[in-house]
Amino acid sequence: MISKGQKIAPAQGKLGVVIPGMGAVTSTFIAGVEAVKKGFAKPIGSLTQMGTIRLGKRTDNRIPMIKEFIPLAFLDDLVFGGWDIFSDNIYEAAAKAGVLERSLIDSIRPALEGISPWPAAFDKSYVKRLDGTHVKKASNKMELAEQVQEDIRSFQKKHNLSRIIMVWCGSTEIFLKTSAVHQTIESFEQGLMKNDPGIAPSMIYAYAAIKSGMPYANGAPNLSGDIPALMQLARDRNVPICGKDFKTGQTLMKTILAPGLKSRLIGLNGWFSTNILGNRDGEVLDDPDSFKTKEESKLSVLEHILQPQLYPDLYSKYTHKVRINYYPPRGDNKEGWDNIDIFGWLGYPMQIKVDFLCRDSILAAPLVLDLVLFLDLAQRCGMSGIQEWLSFYFKSPMCAPELYPEHDLFIQLMKLKNTLRFLKGEELITHLGLEYYD
Ligand SMILES: NC(=O)c1ccc[n+]([C@@H]2O[C@H](COP(=O)([O-])OP(=O)(O)OC[C@H]3O[C@@H](n4cnc5c(N)ncnc54)[C@H](O)[C@@H]3O)[C@@H](O)[C@H]2O)c1
Repeated sequence: MISKGQKIAPAQGKLGVVIPGMGAVTSTFIAGVEAVKKGFAKPIGSLTQMGTIRLGKRTDNRIPMIKEFIPLAFLDDLVFGGWDIFSDNIYEAAAKAGVLERSLIDSIRPALEGISPWPAAFDKSYVKRLDGTHVKKASNKMELAEQVQEDIRSFQKKHNLSRIIMVWCGSTEIFLKTSAVHQTIESFEQGLMKNDPGIAPSMIYAYAAIKSGMPYANGAPNLSGDIPALMQLARDRNVPICGKDFKTGQTLMKTILAPGLKSRLIGLNGWFSTNILGNRDGEVLDDPDSFKTKEESKLSVLEHILQPQLYPDLYSKYTHKVRINYYPPRGDNKEGWDNIDIFGWLGYPMQIKVDFLCRDSILAAPLVLDLVLFLDLAQRCGMSGIQEWLSFYFKSPMCAPELYPEHDLFIQLMKLKNTLRFLKGEELITHLGLEYYD
């Protein structure tokens, strides 16, 4: 249990960041941190680096930067490592991803070339569109988990790290439902020994992280740590975990617009979302089994924000469709279109059209940084299990089985900032302003 204003262990020493999947998001994240460290660019989009937090009454005028308010690790203390099925170092991965300009990655080339992936725990049956040779060999999944743990131990030793965080930035795996093997840690460990097909590679990494006492975040929609066995293991080992699926692009827009429509009690007849993208993520999602995982994640958002059971006249009959089209010429520069059919006073129909020309990895990179720093904070505060206050970053926020996830971006932000206030012993902000009604 955490308590208000409790002691927070200082962020001393080096913080390791280990990432399964060193593709577009990871290379954009690491190159971005290196560029920011050298003063070449600003960490736009990162709450930990650029955000502020209001404390006390509005008249108090106390609005520090978040990073000055609460002890977070410094960018200079981050050390990166990770796994991929391709052996490209981060310079090569960034060049192939084509997200960042060549001149920028050339200016930090030595730092990027120094990071090469360890062989991956990979199985093509879970990501059908990928083939790689840089993979581990083992007789069962438990051995793979042990190899992943061994990679982490050597990394820790080599860089003299005081703490390590793992963030899954690997490809989206095929759709899996929670089954018997996922229920308890005993059944899960047996499944690892017996190569149970219900255990995907992302679960092997999550298990290895939590078992090693490392916080774990899942940036993709596949289950990974979101199974009862690993949630229990996280609580038992006092490890904070969170996921799933970074909230960027079209879903970010959806969770900005939908709460606005609902707060004005504007009705919804339909929301059609389609987009084109041409990066490796788009190629993987072209496989129907991987797309199904992503689709489930994207579809759940509206239902939870609009609460049709409470507002049947407004939200009980809408159609929600989500399409992703793999279109190579676009690379990482996705274009997402939304057609939103709404209705107002007396049921009169209206439409909203959104055309978002976004850059997927540019939107995701600051989220990885914030998650690393906040998960490290959570662990230093003794927080364990699912970190709901980090729902702000996810399309399908993990939550306790008896709760429903909170998708409204503005409620999520309030929850995050109030958690920081609570940890530092500050009053929570309710926006009530009673002092003005005396
Ligand atoms: N970019 C965004 O805005 C965004 C938003 C939400 C979620 N995501 C998710 O984040 C993940 C990464 O996205 P990306 O654009 O970097 O994709 P990417 O294809 O560029 O990179 C993913 C990397 O993971 C590697 N990989 C696959 N299975 C692996 C395994 N078992 N072990 C180690 N490496 C493995 C692949 O080889 C690839 O290099 C995807 O799952 C994507 O759906 C991205």
